[in-house]
Amino acid sequence: MGRHTGGSKAARSLRRMAVAGAVTALASTNPLANAEPSEQAQPRVLGGTSSSTDAAPWAVALTDTYGNHFCGGTLVSAGEVVTAAHCAVDPLTGAQRSAEDIQVVAGRTDLRSTQGTVGSVQDVWVHPEYRDITSGDDLAVLSLSEPMPQRPLPMVEPGDTEAYAPGTTARVYGWGRTSENGPSSDTLRSVDVPINADDSCKSAYANYDERSMFCAGYPEGGKDACAGDSGGPIVADGKLIGVVSYGTGCGRPGTPGVYTRLANYVPLANDLP
Ligand code: ARG
Repeated sequence: MGRHTGGSKAARSLRRMAVAGAVTALASTNPLANAEPSEQAQPRVLGGTSSSTDAAPWAVALTDTYGNHFCGGTLVSAGEVVTAAHCAVDPLTGAQRSAEDIQVVAGRTDLRSTQGTVGSVQDVWVHPEYRDITSGDDLAVLSLSEPMPQRPLPMVEPGDTEAYAPGTTARVYGWGRTSENGPSSDTLRSVDVPINADDSCKSAYANYDERSMFCAGYPEGGKDACAGDSGGPIVADGKLIGVVSYGTGCGRPGTPGVYTRLANYVPLANDLP
């Protein structure tokens, strides 16, 4: 099938945007640099509730070939999964994961079960400007070998800035940790977080780039994505608006979660099947 070969529609549109967009200041700052020592040993629960892939069929888990979950992703068409660029890199070797090393698990609320569908990946597209999470462009698209039966989630409209208006509530989904130092969750969870103004994201993270990122969370913390949620969806108004990227700790006051600002990367989102 044409859309499953090499240059998928989503990948093509994202690639086009990458070529059009200039790389802005690549700060080499560590996002952890702003954390006060007093905040560093303050685990907080992610603060979410149980969710299910019946309610969120487009929420997928990425696993290695042994079935170990390492990231989340979002089905944006029958054959394409949006995730984070850093999820496409093996943290042990720093090398890009090859398509054969990634499995996409859909329709499986509880990762200990055998429910749902396991799909293989045919092609991994990583944003060409991606270097590391602190400099943005943390975006990748997996083209699947076979279409998935689960309902995909539409992406935010190209250039939609309203979707990121400060105060907008967005919901983040994942199988990541439920506390900063705790274990990952076997079951899908989700939590509502308000989108923050770029100024406050910037004061939390010196490397924050409003072109390619947005941040969300409460000033007092308590609700956030955490390790293992990376690559997964953040949803507002029934659309995928971002991808879980990074944060200092999880749910700490003053360090909101940072997400890839998807609207900057999807000029042809309307054309997706
Ligand atoms: N980078 C993390 C991962 O690989 C996700 C971090 C999100 N953290 C946060 N506090 N929002 O899973």
